[in-house]
Amino acid sequence: MTVHIAAEPNRIAETVLLPGDPKRAEWAARSFLDAPELVNDVRGMLGFTGTWQGHRVTIHGSGMGMPSLSIYANELIRDYGVKTLVRIGSCGAMQAHVGLHDVVIAMSASSISTPSSTILREVNFAPCADWGLLHGAVAAAKARGISPHVGGIYSSDTFYDERPDLTEQMTRHGTLAVEMEAAELYTLAARHGARALAVLTVSDHLQTGEALDSQARESSFGDMVEIALESAFAERSHAAQ
Ligand code: HPA
Repeated sequence: MTVHIAAEPNRIAETVLLPGDPKRAEWAARSFLDAPELVNDVRGMLGFTGTWQGHRVTIHGSGMGMPSLSIYANELIRDYGVKTLVRIGSCGAMQAHVGLHDVVIAMSASSISTPSSTILREVNFAPCADWGLLHGAVAAAKARGISPHVGGIYSSDTFYDERPDLTEQMTRHGTLAVEMEAAELYTLAARHGARALAVLTVSDHLQTGEALDSQARESSFGDMVEIALESAFAERSHAAQ
């Protein structure tokens, strides 16, 4: 048990999917896992452990923004020994060729700062995804008839952005999309020898102002869960073949 997770030590799997929204964690666990059991509900941040194709998996909310995600990822990695963390969430598109509903797989995540910036100090660390997970996710998406956008994203500290000049520069430098968690997740995974990836669906577009309604967001969420699960176990199932 940790400050924010009430689960007994053996009740969290080595592989964890991290949606921002705890209700999405519940929906994903009940929809995709066999025998899901509630393992955490401290502060309403729900976590469930079950199995997917015989593999143990936990699906746990991360909350919104890097400080919240950092708390859960730290406790999951350091106290529960989690080895693989895949964020599944939404993002805002920053390029004209990235459309609503599209899947973005984050190869790297830029930021102005993360909760880890105080440790890294003057270093502009480049948080990047685990190659095996990234490769597995691209293959899983393609197998489902989805052509994902793969590249750099921006992990922002704000949803209500007051810096159009910054958005312009990030867009000019080819950044695919903005969200609020991946840079810290990748940095923590790097620090502790874990694997991490963010698989995202475009819920709004910064250039056109279009946005998905909540029902449309739900349907694209299912694809992300399956891509995340397949990527997490890709190497192991290939090895077993
Ligand atoms: N900004 C930041 N985070 C987001 C956005 C956005 O436009 N859309 C989804 N997550």
